[in-house]
Amino acid sequence: MLEGKVAVITGGAAGLGRCHALELARLGARVVVNDIGAKADGSGKDETAARAVCDEIKAMGGEAVPHFGDVADWNDSKAMFETAVREFGDANIVICNAGFVRDATLFNMTEADFDSVIRVHLKGHFCTMRHATAYWRERAKAGGDVYGRLISTSSESALYAPPGQPNYSAAKAGIVAMTLGAAQLMHKYGITANVLMPRARTRMNDAGPLAAMFQKPEDGFDTFAPENVSPLVGWLASPLAARVSGHVFVIWAKDVTIASRPQLDVKFHSPERWTVASLQQQLGSHFEKLEPVKDGFAVPAM
Ligand SMILES: NC(=O)c1ccc[n+]([C@@H]2O[C@H](COP(=O)([O-])OP(=O)(O)OC[C@H]3O[C@@H](n4cnc5c(N)ncnc54)[C@H](O)[C@@H]3O)[C@@H](O)[C@H]2O)c1
Repeated sequence: MLEGKVAVITGGAAGLGRCHALELARLGARVVVNDIGAKADGSGKDETAARAVCDEIKAMGGEAVPHFGDVADWNDSKAMFETAVREFGDANIVICNAGFVRDATLFNMTEADFDSVIRVHLKGHFCTMRHATAYWRERAKAGGDVYGRLISTSSESALYAPPGQPNYSAAKAGIVAMTLGAAQLMHKYGITANVLMPRARTRMNDAGPLAAMFQKPEDGFDTFAPENVSPLVGWLASPLAARVSGHVFVIWAKDVTIASRPQLDVKFHSPERWTVASLQQQLGSHFEKLEPVKDGFAVPAM
């Protein structure tokens, strides 16, 4: 289904990214596996894992090359696309996936924890999407055929705002906005852009309050296997989903849920310019009837 297409996957050496790389290769794409080989907190570098995924793909009869750059580095990100074009002649499917977490409550979070997580997710998506869209636009302007599929990785943290992840949930909310903008921008070139909000057992959640939920069951369906997410990536990347753009998909277990865009809710109107007193009269009485917001990450029941 993806024969002749070239996929670039950031953070493709582990967890979800590895599964996406294998799925796209199985569907016939040639793959650039980008991964800096960071530890769980984002520190360090190691080329071993990205090379190993490329070897897995080659063992299946596919084609893959590693790229070890930092997704949030402008020049590394550009070089990633240059690698795809040099090695395989094009770049068609771009999966923004790389990232790490450094969780802490707002009052405990360090500046470095905030900056590094915003950088890898939000700037990492920006650099990748910026170079991908510029490449596709240039190709289209030169009259060439353009096949472009952009898939971003957000998180349900952007919806539920867990109080222990202010850096991560802010970055993931920004990714949604940026991707929906890209979908509008690239529509005229026939290029799609969509967002995933996955859940999967990876090193990102092998410790902490949700670790027990993610564990592999002794028997039966493995609800949080990362392989459960990748078929949606394959479908969105394929010609079958040419009309699907500007959507947010929550994906885990055997469910795919399409998230709605933030909706306007109750509207109040004043015949004159608002005053504190008139706001209190209308909004005050409205909020008196509501429970105050207490819970952040209300994980929906499985
Ligand atoms: N696991 C989940 O339940 C879950 C839930 C929601 C969203 N996500 C998102 O899915 C994506 C993949 O996460 P995962 O759970 O597979 O984690 P993971 O740690 O298994 O994989 C992330 C990969 O990104 C790489 N990476 C980190 N910084 C990088 C950088 N600067 N440049 C290039 N590569 C870099 C790491 O080396 C690692 O191989 C992330 O964006 C994550 O936020 C995961």
